[in-house]
Amino acid sequence: MRALTIHEYGAPDVFKVEEIEKPKPGSHQVLIEVKNSSINPVDWKIRAGHLSLLIPKHWPRVLGVDCSGIVAEVGDSVRSFAPGDAVFGMSNPLRSQYGAYAQYCICDKDSITKKPDGLSFSDAASIPVAALTAYKAFKLQIKLQPGQKVLINGASGGVGSFAVQIAKAMGAKITATCSADNIEFVRSLGADEVVDYKEQDIRTLSEKFDGIFDASAKLNFAAATRMLTKHGVYVTTVPDPFTVLGLLTSILGGKKAYIVSAGSGAFVSQELSAIAEMVLSGQVKPIIAKSVSLEEVPDSQKFSEAGHARGKTVIDI
Ligand SMILES: NC(=O)c1ccc[n+]([C@@H]2O[C@H](COP(=O)([O-])OP(=O)(O)OC[C@H]3O[C@@H](n4cnc5c(N)ncnc54)[C@H](OP(=O)(O)O)[C@@H]3O)[C@@H](O)[C@H]2O)c1
Repeated sequence: MRALTIHEYGAPDVFKVEEIEKPKPGSHQVLIEVKNSSINPVDWKIRAGHLSLLIPKHWPRVLGVDCSGIVAEVGDSVRSFAPGDAVFGMSNPLRSQYGAYAQYCICDKDSITKKPDGLSFSDAASIPVAALTAYKAFKLQIKLQPGQKVLINGASGGVGSFAVQIAKAMGAKITATCSADNIEFVRSLGADEVVDYKEQDIRTLSEKFDGIFDASAKLNFAAATRMLTKHGVYVTTVPDPFTVLGLLTSILGGKKAYIVSAGSGAFVSQELSAIAEMVLSGQVKPIIAKSVSLEEVPDSQKFSEAGHARGKTVIDI
C-alpha cells in the first residue's frame, strides 16, 4: 500500500512516501481502507519524538490518528463491524504503528463508529481527536448546563472551533479568546464575547466562569482558579504541573481541575456517534480550512506546529 512513513523521529523532512506491506488487523482490530485523515498536533508531536517514551519504536511508522474510510477486514473477535461498512474514528499509536496517512490503517474496534450516510468522509475525518476533546470536556468534566458561563481559550483552532459550537449547542454563554484575525470567525461559530488574547491578558478578566476550557493550554489551573465560580471547573488539553497539582488538591476543594483525553474511556464509539448527530442536525459544522494530499502533509504539519491553525486541515488519501 502507499503510505507516508517515518523511519526515525525528527523534523518534517523525515517523512517519505513509499510502498509498504498492507497490515493485518489483530483480534480486536479493524483494517480500514482510508478515504480521509486530518492534521492534529499529536501527530507532529509523535513525529518530533515528544512522545517517544510512551510509543513503541516500530519502524516504519505511519502517523495519522484521525481516519474515515471503509472496513476492509476485521479481527477474529470483532462482531460490530463487517467489510464494506463506512466508519470513522481514531487509530491508536500506542497499539499500532499503522495510522491513517496511508491507503490502509489499523484501528481498535472500540475507537471507531459507523459513519452516517449524511456525513461526508471528509467531515468525518475532521471530527475524532478535535471534537471528542471538546465534547468530553463539556459533557463529562465541566458537565455544562444551559445558561452557564464558559471561557474557551484558543477558540479558532481544531479543538476550539468544535468547542465553541458544542458549548453553544449545550446552551452556554460563551466568552472565547483568539488572535485579532479570527475574532469575526469565532463570533460566527457562536461566541457571545470574543477577546483578542494579544490585546488583553485574559487573567485580568473580572468575570467568573462556571467552566474554563483551555483548548490551547496556554493557561493553567493556578492562573485560572481566580476566574472560576465557587464550584467552577477548569479543563486543559495538555498536562502541566500546576494542573496536575490542582487535580490532586481539587479533590477536597470546590473548584476542580481536569486534563481531557480524546481517546480515553469505554464509550468513544458512542461519543463519536453523538457528535455525528450534532453535525447532521446542523448544531455543529466541521470547519475545514483546507484539503491536502499525502505529499503536502509535511508542510501542513509545519503550519500546525506554528500553533495558529484555523479549523481543520483534512488529508485526501
Ligand atoms: N488531550 C487530548 O486528548 C488532546 C486532543 C486534541 C488536542 N490536544 C492539544 O490541544 C492543543 C490544541 O489543539 P488544536 O488541534 O486545537 O490545535 P490548533 O488547531 O493548532 O489550534 C491552536 C489554537 O491555539 C490558539 N492560540 C495560540 N496561541 C495562543 C495563546 N497564547 N492564547 C490563546 N490561544 C492561543 C490559536 O489561535 P490564533 O490562531 O487565533 O492565535 C489556535 O486557535 C494542542 O496542544 C494539542 O496537542 C490534546
